[in-house]
Amino acid sequence: MQIDTLILGAGAAGLYCAAYAGGPTLVIDHAKRPAEKVRISGGGRCNFTNLEIAPERFLSANPHFHRSALARHDQWAFIDRVSRAGIGWHEKTLGQLFCNGKSTAVVDLLVSDAGAAGADIWLDTHTGSIEQVDGGFRVALSRAGHPITVSARRLVVATGGKSIPKMGATGLAYDIARQFGLTVTETRPALVPLTFTDGRFAPLSGTACPARAANVRMSFDEAILFTHRGLSGPAILQLSSYWREGEAISLTLDPAGGAVPALRADRARHGRVKIANALSRHVPARLAEHIASDLGLSGNLADQPDAALARLSDRLTDWRLVPQGSEGWRTAEVTLGGIDTVHLDGRTMETKAVPGLYFIGECVDVTGWLGGYNFQWAWSSAWAAGTAIAAARTRA
Ligand code: FDA
Repeated sequence: MQIDTLILGAGAAGLYCAAYAGGPTLVIDHAKRPAEKVRISGGGRCNFTNLEIAPERFLSANPHFHRSALARHDQWAFIDRVSRAGIGWHEKTLGQLFCNGKSTAVVDLLVSDAGAAGADIWLDTHTGSIEQVDGGFRVALSRAGHPITVSARRLVVATGGKSIPKMGATGLAYDIARQFGLTVTETRPALVPLTFTDGRFAPLSGTACPARAANVRMSFDEAILFTHRGLSGPAILQLSSYWREGEAISLTLDPAGGAVPALRADRARHGRVKIANALSRHVPARLAEHIASDLGLSGNLADQPDAALARLSDRLTDWRLVPQGSEGWRTAEVTLGGIDTVHLDGRTMETKAVPGLYFIGECVDVTGWLGGYNFQWAWSSAWAAGTAIAAARTRA
């Protein structure tokens, strides 16, 4: 079988690329349904982009690589596509845009746009050997158990990263890159809960509160969530992308710094209240109990000497913790690192050394913040490759 463009991966990036590449394009995926991560994203309502997309909110060994694609096909371009399709959306918080209804509306849009542009989508199709041949690539596929060899002028790799293997994530993109002599930067689970093996937070499991989570590189003011295994919530997920094993993180449970001055004032006037109860006016009650017992504070507020309130102040403003690890690929929302961008042309996503070979989406070493940034990278990089392929075909 001969086609112009073969796209590996019918996820966010692969389908969006097909919609712009046009022409005889085949998109294949080993999953039984397309774009499963889009479907489950954002709690089923797909946080499809963010109003505050900025290159600084993406991690990459080259902090400039993603600028071009993000600027040329920005959040407004995707918002426009979603709006024209009649998909209602709203801003939840911090610029995060979610569908009003189910995320399957976005999956349906991606599939129908790819089809309208002339793409076939083969699901339950597995990839075997890939060879570079005169005029393109020869790829061995197995479709529902039947072997088929496809010759394609162009090959787009959009098979995503390693996060959540249960959902079909594989390292195929990295294997293909290495086969063609391209380097892959270290890959790590990112946007992932951090764990404490001693189970110290298990009694607090389910407790959430606003906080600042910080380390030497970055700080995020959002909610944190205590879990059986450790810490989660948006502030922790964000920080996980900037954290390395063995390092401390700092939690500020009282970013405005008003809690201890208020407790000091209350000590003189209304001191006949248990210290944990007094503290629970500033942090959730279960957390207040935990902190009081951890610091050995008992009795009433009136019984607390200045030194005890100073220790409490330290705990509320700079609680140093050293997580043992993260929940890993099992729950990570994305993969940090990936195909080294030195090999790619940032305007087209084509590899410099292997003409006709493109990498887009999460498999590339570009990782966004939590909140719609990673889908925007999928759309922008896919658009860059898709429009470049369409233009190359017109020129030929
Ligand atoms: P994606 O993973 O979407 O697609 C890759 C496709 O390739 C998949 O269909 C897969 O089956 C296929 N594939 C993999 N290996 C293959 C192989 N060997 N052979 C054939 N096919 C293969 N981001 C965001 O911006 N907002 C959000 O709300 C969320 N929410 C969210 C929730 C959860 C639970 C997760 C795990 C992730 C998110 N994300 C997110 C991240 C977002 O889902 C992710 O960044 C994009 O889906 C990446 O798009 P890609 O197309 O690159 O990969």
